[in-house]
Amino acid sequence: MKKMISPSMMCCDFFSLGKQIEIFENGGVEYLHIDIMDGHFAPNIALGADFCKELKKHTRIPLDYHFMVEKPENILPAYDISEGDIVSVHAESTVHLQRVLTMISDRGGQPFVAINPATPISAIEEVTDYIDGVLVMSVNPGFAGQKLVASTLDKIKRTRAFLDGRGRENALIEVDGNVSFENAKIMSGNGANIFVAGTSGLFRGNIEENLATMRKAIAI
Ligand code: DX5
Ligand code: ZN
Repeated sequence: MKKMISPSMMCCDFFSLGKQIEIFENGGVEYLHIDIMDGHFAPNIALGADFCKELKKHTRIPLDYHFMVEKPENILPAYDISEGDIVSVHAESTVHLQRVLTMISDRGGQPFVAINPATPISAIEEVTDYIDGVLVMSVNPGFAGQKLVASTLDKIKRTRAFLDGRGRENALIEVDGNVSFENAKIMSGNGANIFVAGTSGLFRGNIEENLATMRKAIAI
């Protein structure tokens, strides 16, 4: 399955955003990762609907929305979801998970369910037919620059087996958090397909060079 890169836009240098997006487009980046946080589900506030609307005017790269908010069903309608955008909502964040996932597909998005490091894979048991992928958090949501929760490396492998065991061989696995070049190689070998690239690798120094290094690290 394809290996794809999704730069974490909360880690961008906002004073040279246009230049960075040009680099992403020239580098064939597949998605732009948009962290949305409400200060409750995740202890931080990040990237609003207006920022995303503006961003869509300046690039055709699909967005990879990551809702780290309580009751995402309430805030989802405020965001522009275009055909092909990924929209991840946390299994831990709503009692209406199946309804939210269908809200996403009804709007043309790719519904993904996200699970925190301590959330068992079984939490997605009842929604495997309603998702296009699983976002496996490799850190606890909230901030860039955190250290990998080591158990999540094996969790990627177990998630792959879980999906394949339910006939969802075509469901993708995205990883988010401390995706360094070294971690990305292991994550890719364990079955990850989409890599949220942040301060651990991509944004550390020359972005163009780091993009090429990341491509090499995830290629297997
Ligand atoms: C974590 C964020 C990510 C990511 C940032 O809540 O969703 O954007 O961790 O990348 P790193 O971990 O490399 O700084
Ligand atoms: Zn994220």
